[in-house]
Amino acid sequence: MNTPSPDYLLGNTDEEHQRLIRQAKRIAPITESFFREAGIGPGQRVLDLGSGVGDVAMLAAKLVGPSGEVVGVERDTRSIARAIRRAADAGYHNVTFRQTDVAQISSYKPFDAVVGRYILQFLPDPVGVVRSLSKLLNPGGVVAFQEPCWVPFLQLCRDLPLWSAGASLIYETSHRAGVNMRMGLTLHKVFQEAGLPAPKMHMEVPLGNDPDFTRWIPDVLCAVRPQIEQFRLSLDAVGDLDTLPARLQKEVAASHSVVPWFGIVGAWSRTGTT
Ligand SMILES: C[S@@+](CC[C@H](N)C(=O)[O-])C[C@H]1O[C@@H](n2cnc3c(N)ncnc32)[C@H](O)[C@@H]1O
Repeated sequence: MNTPSPDYLLGNTDEEHQRLIRQAKRIAPITESFFREAGIGPGQRVLDLGSGVGDVAMLAAKLVGPSGEVVGVERDTRSIARAIRRAADAGYHNVTFRQTDVAQISSYKPFDAVVGRYILQFLPDPVGVVRSLSKLLNPGGVVAFQEPCWVPFLQLCRDLPLWSAGASLIYETSHRAGVNMRMGLTLHKVFQEAGLPAPKMHMEVPLGNDPDFTRWIPDVLCAVRPQIEQFRLSLDAVGDLDTLPARLQKEVAASHSVVPWFGIVGAWSRTGTT
């Protein structure tokens, strides 16, 4: 049975887990190349924040290899149980998961890197979390986060009414639920307020037109439907969620083009060495 997770917008249903896995598969090359650029490599001990069902932790585990170690932190019981099963099934012996809030992590053993994907946007005090976790790093340790930027997403889909309506409804629902929808570019400020050097940053905007790509909008709308209703937002502009995937795919195919996803902003920096 699914246990509701009232503190987290997207919940922890099996459908949400499968959506996260599909999403992780699609963006894995972007995250992998970002982690390599940030300096994640063999032998390191890495802390992954907001692990979800484990994809980022497993990706980091591949990069650090058998001589390294990854500790994934996740608050939700169902998600962490799935992350543990998936890491074991995939044969990763160098990943462990801890069930805790990212604001309450302590460690007697230092880390070489702290990483996270799509987690700071959900936190009430991202600066405080990054500051306190930076203190768990060895000198010169890496801090590397990927967070969304919605500006190109909302701008680039303006000619596609249905895609645009779906993206706008997700944006509005998430915003009202307290998600920081500007976290991508805000990383620059977050790192510095947390006492880190200004991060190196870049943004990638995935584009696509196949059904696996376009189903992201209906999948997320289904996940946040309780909040859409709670905030009394209207589904009229997107219509029936059951038929939305086919209607979206038709709209995108008729455009003979590709549609955007949100921009993935990567920011990384290193703690001081003195
Ligand atoms: C959008 S998912 C991202 C999962 C994973 N990082 C990925 O990219 O596939 C965000 C995850 O952060 C977790 N989370 C949110 N707030 C948290 C907190 N304060 N402490 C620990 N985990 C948290 C949620 O339960 C969820 O699993």
